[in-house]
Amino acid sequence: MGNKINIAIDGYSSCGKGTLAKELAKKLNYVFIDSGAMYRAVTLFLMNHNIDVLNEEAVENQLALISLEFKQSVIKDRYEIHLNGENVDAEIRELRVASKVSEVAKISAVRKKLVEMQQLIGAQKGVVMDGRDIGTVVFPTAELKIFMTASSEVRAERRYKEMIAAGKEVSFDDVRQNLMDRDNLDSSRDDSPLTLNDSYHVLDNSNLTPQEQFDLAMSWVQELLD
Ligand code: DC
Repeated sequence: MGNKINIAIDGYSSCGKGTLAKELAKKLNYVFIDSGAMYRAVTLFLMNHNIDVLNEEAVENQLALISLEFKQSVIKDRYEIHLNGENVDAEIRELRVASKVSEVAKISAVRKKLVEMQQLIGAQKGVVMDGRDIGTVVFPTAELKIFMTASSEVRAERRYKEMIAAGKEVSFDDVRQNLMDRDNLDSSRDDSPLTLNDSYHVLDNSNLTPQEQFDLAMSWVQELLD
């Protein structure tokens, strides 16, 4: 597998984009980048500094103070996000951050900064990146684009179980409401909304096992690498 490609995975919240992206990256020996973690880390910074995320100008003024880096975690065998030198990979998954992140992701100045970083990472090829605008804006020429979807019940159930397993005290209804709110905001914003076009393979995994999903995605990869 000498010729490396970029793989863009977009779709709704909690469709298992990250899981698939991670598995593909492992199999292909590529780098996996969770672009949502970058929006979450910016949101965490703003919350920690008491910046009103609805005040675009105030948010924009903070951007120069935010430095993000993905560092390989030896223990967890993956890249973890560091915000101004501090590992915040666990903290950014909390519901309090999730409840604000879509507002932050609407702001064009934030998107511009993060998209530039993402494009720099992808320039070397061999990257699997998941998010909402990866195949439309970040890597419009990515060799493989996958749009993932699943029913909202299935997605809420998955995210709820994930959070409970991580020891978080959350209610199923709160988790489901947060997913629906985020999907609405992410799909309706003016700048780079979640959308798909003909260049995507659509993967609805409501009724697929993780293995079936992986095999399907790998068959698309193989078609390109053969
Ligand atoms: O994938 P996630 O749930 O961690 O993403 C967090 C939020 O960031 C989500 O509400 C949408 C936004 N996001 C985005 O606008 N563009 C991306 N490329 C990735 C995430």
